[in-house]
Amino acid sequence: MMKLFIDTANVAEIREAWDMGMICGVTTNPSLIAREGADLEERMREILSIVTDGPINGEAIGTSAEELTAGARKLARIDSRIVVKVPMTQEGLKAIRTLKAEGIKTNATLVFSAAQGLLAARAGASYISPFLGRLDDIGQPSEALLEAFADIWSMYDLETEIIAASIRSPEHVVSAARLGIHIATVPYKILLAMTEHPLTDAGIKRFEADWQDALKKRGQST
Ligand code: G3P
Repeated sequence: MMKLFIDTANVAEIREAWDMGMICGVTTNPSLIAREGADLEERMREILSIVTDGPINGEAIGTSAEELTAGARKLARIDSRIVVKVPMTQEGLKAIRTLKAEGIKTNATLVFSAAQGLLAARAGASYISPFLGRLDDIGQPSEALLEAFADIWSMYDLETEIIAASIRSPEHVVSAARLGIHIATVPYKILLAMTEHPLTDAGIKRFEADWQDALKKRGQST
C-alpha cells in the first residue's frame, strides 16, 4: 500500500504522526527548516531519534553540482537513513549521478513534468518528488502528471520511487494512492484532516447518548 511520509520539520508534529502510526518517513525542505528556526543537521538528528525506522529527507543547499554533492555528503554522514533532496536541475542531475555512485540516496525535488522525472530516474535518484499543489496553483492538473508517472512506471522495472509532494488536501493523497504512486508526503494538518469525517463525530455522539439512555432506563448513571 502507498506509504505516507510527513512533510514538516516540526518535531511535535512528527512525534504525533509517528505515535499515531501514520508515517514511515519524513521530508523537509529549506523553507520548512527555516520556519522552525532550526539548524539543519541538528534537526535531522532530532527527527532520526523520533522516527526510528524509514527515510529522513533533508535538502542539499547550493546550485552547482559541487556544492550540492558536498552538502549531500555532509548530511549523509549523519545516518544511513538520510536521503538528500537535490533540486531537479542540470547541476542537480550531475550531483545525483555522483551521489548514486557513492551509495548516497537522493530525492530529486521540484519535479513538475514527466520529462524531468524520467531524467532524474535515469541519473539514479532513489526518489523523485512531483509537486502537486504548486502545479494546481498555476492551473496545470497535477493528476495528469501523476497519471503519466503511473503509466511509465508500470512499463519498466524501475528502482526509483515516486513521492507525491506539495499535498494540499486528503483528495491529493487518495488520487495518488488510486494511481499506485509509491509514497505521499503530507503536511500534518492534512494528515489530521484525513482522520476526520462528520459522520464519525455524529456516530460517537449517538452511541454515547444511546448508552446513557440505556443506563438511565436501568436506574444507573454514567
Ligand atoms: O517538501 C516539498 C513540498 O511538499 C512543498 O510543498 O506546500 O510548499 O508546495 P508546498
